Amino acid sequence: MVALTYLAVAVSAIASTVLGAPAPAADSPDFELGGDHLARRQDYTQNYKTGGSVNFSPGSNGYSVTFSGAQDFVVGKGWSKGTSRNITFSGSTTASGGTVLVSIYGWSKNPLVEYYIQEYSNGQGAAQGTKLGSFDSDGSTYDIWHHQQVNQPSISGTTTFWQYISVRRDKRPGGGTVTTQNHFDAWAKAGLKLGSMDYQVLATEGWGNAGGNSKYTLSG
Ligand SMILES: *[C@@H]1O[C@H](CO)[C@@H](O)[C@H](O)[C@H]1NC(C)=O
Repeated sequence: MVALTYLAVAVSAIASTVLGAPAPAADSPDFELGGDHLARRQDYTQNYKTGGSVNFSPGSNGYSVTFSGAQDFVVGKGWSKGTSRNITFSGSTTASGGTVLVSIYGWSKNPLVEYYIQEYSNGQGAAQGTKLGSFDSDGSTYDIWHHQQVNQPSISGTTTFWQYISVRRDKRPGGGTVTTQNHFDAWAKAGLKLGSMDYQVLATEGWGNAGGNSKYTLSG
């Protein structure tokens, strides 16, 4: 996110994850059965706004947001622990002003990394820094960018950290499936290592008097 961004890091629904705790019922609000393991339902809401009008409505499996005259904001929905899950999203984004982007967005710690898999933007969006290469995934080519944020707010306070940014050339505001493992592998090949995964969401971000709207459902 851009320089002035500060992240809301409230995490909910982690109480049932203690090792050794009994498996929650399949209809628990926090878990669902996925294959042969329990996968956490979408339990993380990203909700950061700095100014202007941003009307954000998170739901149990997605979100909608309308915005006008917006300064930096990042809103979305996902999981408090990132994994190499395949994330399928469906919906729409319309941009009428400023910079608007839609990404799989997350963080790792040790090393501290802010990452983007940018699926749509009305300009260059999150792409900045050094371009390290490109690779193909999910029906398009993605360019890999590497950018250092110096003394910027993060999930570990104001500090210096790197951004790993995959930018999809064939933008798809309507959605699709993101094979996140392909990005993690491509980044690793480029020397970009992730640490322990923190939250992972589908997010709509805007800045610079951003105007427009987004509405998505997602699963993963
Ligand atoms: C993601 O999808 C691919 C097929 O495209 C599959 O091979 C892989 O196992 C899936 N990964 C996860 C974590 O479900």
